[in-house]
Amino acid sequence: MQSLFVKVTFVAFISLSSAAIGYGGVTSKFVRSEWPSVDIPLNNEAFAIPKGHNAPQQVHITQGDYDGKAVIISWVTPDEPGSNKVHYGTSEKNYVHSAEGTVTNYTFHEYKSGYIHHCLVDGLEYDTKYYYKIGSGESSREFWFQTPPRIGPDVPYKFGMIGDLGQTYNSLSTLEHYMHSGAQTVLFVGDLSYADRYQYNDVGLRWDTWGRFVERSTAYQPWIWSAGNHEIEYMPYMGEVTPFKSYLYRYATPYLASKSSSPMWYAVRRASAHIIVLSSYSPFVKYTPQWFWLKEELKKVDREKTPWLIVLMHVPIYNSNEAHFMEGESMRAVFEKWFVRKKVDVVFAGHVHAYERSYRISNINYNVSSGDRYPMPDKSAPVYITVGDGGNQEGLAGRFRDPQPEYSAFREASYGHSTLEIKNRTHAFYHWNRNDDGKKVPTDSFVIHNRHWASNLRRRKLKKHYLRIVGGRTATI
Ligand SMILES: *[C@@H]1O[C@H](CO)[C@@H](O)[C@H](O)[C@H]1NC(C)=O
Ligand SMILES: *[C@@H]1O[C@H](CO)[C@@H](O)[C@H](O)[C@H]1NC(C)=O
Ligand SMILES: *[C@@H]1O[C@H](CO)[C@@H](O)[C@H](O)[C@H]1NC(C)=O
Ligand SMILES: [Fe+2]
Repeated sequence: MQSLFVKVTFVAFISLSSAAIGYGGVTSKFVRSEWPSVDIPLNNEAFAIPKGHNAPQQVHITQGDYDGKAVIISWVTPDEPGSNKVHYGTSEKNYVHSAEGTVTNYTFHEYKSGYIHHCLVDGLEYDTKYYYKIGSGESSREFWFQTPPRIGPDVPYKFGMIGDLGQTYNSLSTLEHYMHSGAQTVLFVGDLSYADRYQYNDVGLRWDTWGRFVERSTAYQPWIWSAGNHEIEYMPYMGEVTPFKSYLYRYATPYLASKSSSPMWYAVRRASAHIIVLSSYSPFVKYTPQWFWLKEELKKVDREKTPWLIVLMHVPIYNSNEAHFMEGESMRAVFEKWFVRKKVDVVFAGHVHAYERSYRISNINYNVSSGDRYPMPDKSAPVYITVGDGGNQEGLAGRFRDPQPEYSAFREASYGHSTLEIKNRTHAFYHWNRNDDGKKVPTDSFVIHNRHWASNLRRRKLKKHYLRIVGGRTATI
């Protein structure tokens, strides 16, 4: 019996070490046909202003609570504050309910924003289509959204991931492809409008065009927001030094529902997923509010209710592109061990304008004086996926480090978006879609086995198998 046990461990060791040494990822040779990475002109129909006096524009919704029974509906009225009310109901043109929101406005240098409305609509039914109307009289506008199913371990749900979108023709292509994917909610990994590439008045104007640009999707389904460096807008030369000013005025998040003290980091649960949003550009080291919050939030994760644990951040922790190389190291040093301990399924990031996926690896044993100094295969580690490939005006990050590091599984410098189609507690289908191929040709795709449930099942199977071979002797392996 003893020799059999030794043999089993030996085989396991061999396969682990060959994985550690022998694997090499794929660097795609695909070369996309170049489109100019220029912003769409201001007068283009992609930014069309809705007709009518003071008509609501830049309509966007996001989840409004912890569990998906509320939405926050936001919009801008250009001429006067107008009504803060949302009229809504479950059948078209029959708005039997209403909710009252708030209005705010801000200046950015000499730019004066429109009137920005945020309205929480709560107490909704799960899995229900709602129609809503905002604005008044002839300028009113109507939209709809679908609430998610009740939280549950085997609830199927399809998320889309978009990052670093901007407002170029490539951005439009990404957005259109995403909208044909059938995904129900966007997990947005930061860098929205790239308005900070402009100066003075144009910064505000480009936030407005972006709001109108994405409305075709954001008015109908929630986008879960996280902030990137282009949201910081620290521009002392024009007297603007309050970080995230435009972003925070315009994009609400349900941070209070997860007991966060800041809209920059928070969590939501939706269908079978627990989604944690982190801020790469807010303090996160030990004892900061974000660190304390994440520590507490991770305790609340209940894999029996929401098997899928997903983390969003802007700066990738594993990235082998020359662009932004190692910028995620500071957050890795603080949070990676928590991600591994909690068996996070996948971490999505943006920032690098290319696509990259890692193997399941971790580098948590090194402590400056001793330990492994290299990422090692780790079944409890998340897959790290970078989708900073939305298509903004800065263009592609085309220079990958050579040779491809062992932690990198697949990388390609193209524009695109991803989808994560959760099937049940154990299986999810993941796709990355490059723009040139349209929606039907997934370039990188694989089945994600849930870290909590897949490994539990595996352990149970292994145990059963082991008990059988050792003839009932209780043992731990
Ligand atoms: C906000 O709108 C009010 C009412 O139109 C106006 O008086 C005020 O100056 C605006 N504030 C900012 C910061 O633009
Ligand atoms: C540092 O890492 C080594 C090797 O993993 C370990 O033995 C040691 O206890 C660690 N020291 C601290 C202070 O964590
Ligand atoms: C979970 O989904 C996968 C993929 O569709 C399927 O193969 C598997 O049988 C499902 N598991 C259960 C328990 O239904
Ligand atoms: Fe970025």
